Amino acid sequence: MNSHTRVSVIGYGSIGRIVADRLFAGALPGVEIVGIVDNGRVPNAPVPQVDLHKALEISDVLVECAGQAAVFDHAETILGAGRDLVVSSAGALSNPDFVSRLRAHPGRMLCTTGAVGGLDLLGAASDAAPFDSVTVQTTKLPGSLVQHWMSEEQSAEILVAESALTVFEGGAVEAARLFPRSLNVATAVAFAVSDRDLVQVKLIADPAATLTRHEVTARGPVGNYHFTIENLPSPENPRTSAIVPFAVLRTLGVLLGRHGVIG
Ligand SMILES: NC(=O)c1ccc[n+]([C@@H]2O[C@H](COP(=O)([O-])OP(=O)(O)OC[C@H]3O[C@@H](n4cnc5c(N)ncnc54)[C@H](O)[C@@H]3O)[C@@H](O)[C@H]2O)c1
Repeated sequence: MNSHTRVSVIGYGSIGRIVADRLFAGALPGVEIVGIVDNGRVPNAPVPQVDLHKALEISDVLVECAGQAAVFDHAETILGAGRDLVVSSAGALSNPDFVSRLRAHPGRMLCTTGAVGGLDLLGAASDAAPFDSVTVQTTKLPGSLVQHWMSEEQSAEILVAESALTVFEGGAVEAARLFPRSLNVATAVAFAVSDRDLVQVKLIADPAATLTRHEVTARGPVGNYHFTIENLPSPENPRTSAIVPFAVLRTLGVLLGRHGVIG
């Protein structure tokens, strides 16, 4: 990788704004932010808003902070043009055929750890021997879990719940499809353990959840692991945890060799 790397950010919302602004402020030495790609108009961005075509022309790396649709629509074009891609919307990578197509292109793709951690340990343990069971239990504020496909009744039940209510129980692939903006963590764990079908997900709406909680439990031949992660929701978007833009910046740093995996 060049000592000078040009980056464009796709999506200037609660994650992308912090990523872009921090890069503009020099968060990663040798990395220059050159463009913002967004569906909507972004009047106060630190660098020009450009379309994807222009972003490919002027950038070495694109950082997706826009949602699963942006990954479906743009990832092949980006990687096919030999540009690298950092993905925030890990849930878009639940389809193995899609991922195989992406891997055939020359650009490199790295998924951020986002709102979760411990993935290196889970990955190492699963390399040693497949896990017997992996579960992810996520608890969020009810308002952030209502989806457009829900009936009015189901949405109302979630919104008026006075105590914790289970909204979904099932596999990680289904979780990413039904809750595209809320369960990227489940896909990230599924990637780490290299088994999308093994990971079972439980999603709980809790009106008392001031913090978004992820409990990851994995049991296997080389060990048992249990992590509890409690993240403050982003003030701009309660579906997203405030840590995520900083995880994205770290992933970009790792991709560019600016950070090691440790330190
Ligand atoms: N990996 C994780 O742990 C994790 C955690 C939270 C969110 N995410 C992912 O990050 C995404 C962004 O989160 P956010 O809180 O910043 O959302 P947001 O709604 O605040 O911002 C999204 C921005 O992207 C733009 N956008 C949407 N679709 C686009 C497209 N196809 N092309 C270009 N721009 C587009 C929107 O106009 C908006 O400005 C989420 O949808 C989710 O998939 C990942």
